[in-house]
Amino acid sequence: MTRVAVFPGSFDPITNAHLDVAERAAKLFDRLVIGVLNNPKKHPLFDIDERVGLIRTCVADLGEHVTVDAFDGLTVDFARRHGAGFIVRGLRAVSDFEAELQMALTNRKLAPEVDTTFLMTALEYGFVSSSLAKEVARFGGDVTAMLPGPVAQALSERMHADPRV
Ligand code: PNS
Repeated sequence: MTRVAVFPGSFDPITNAHLDVAERAAKLFDRLVIGVLNNPKKHPLFDIDERVGLIRTCVADLGEHVTVDAFDGLTVDFARRHGAGFIVRGLRAVSDFEAELQMALTNRKLAPEVDTTFLMTALEYGFVSSSLAKEVARFGGDVTAMLPGPVAQALSERMHADPRV
């Protein structure tokens, strides 16, 4: 039996916490598809192609069974399109739990054949989020502990290109 999982998110941009979850999920599943939600209404800092490209760079050494794909619409439809029986999400702290439970139960209602699995983010990344990293970068702080190298570089370039960001 081939175990296929999707790991959906906004990834604006991918952080070390996301990457840690992806690395561990890559060991658990035969195929892992990282799904980047294309939701222009959220006004992401990085457009969909940039987010997909940054993730591809960061997961290049995880193996060919890890791929990255953009999607819009429902996560469960994305999972079905990829023949995935699992959704992977990371949990950093108790504060994540309520929203994640709501999403997992909604997804189960929509697609009972797709189960959500949670991986606890490594302790050192428990405080990391894309929005905090962007805020720290915006005010000139050091984001190297929060973001993979190429992502920190891209964020710093974006901030310099448009200081209003
Ligand atoms: O990185 P995020 O922003 O926490 O990821 C949230 C995401 C993309 C997983 C969630 O918003 C999502 O699944 N959106 C797609 C729409 C959907 O399926 N909604 C119903 C499930 S809550």
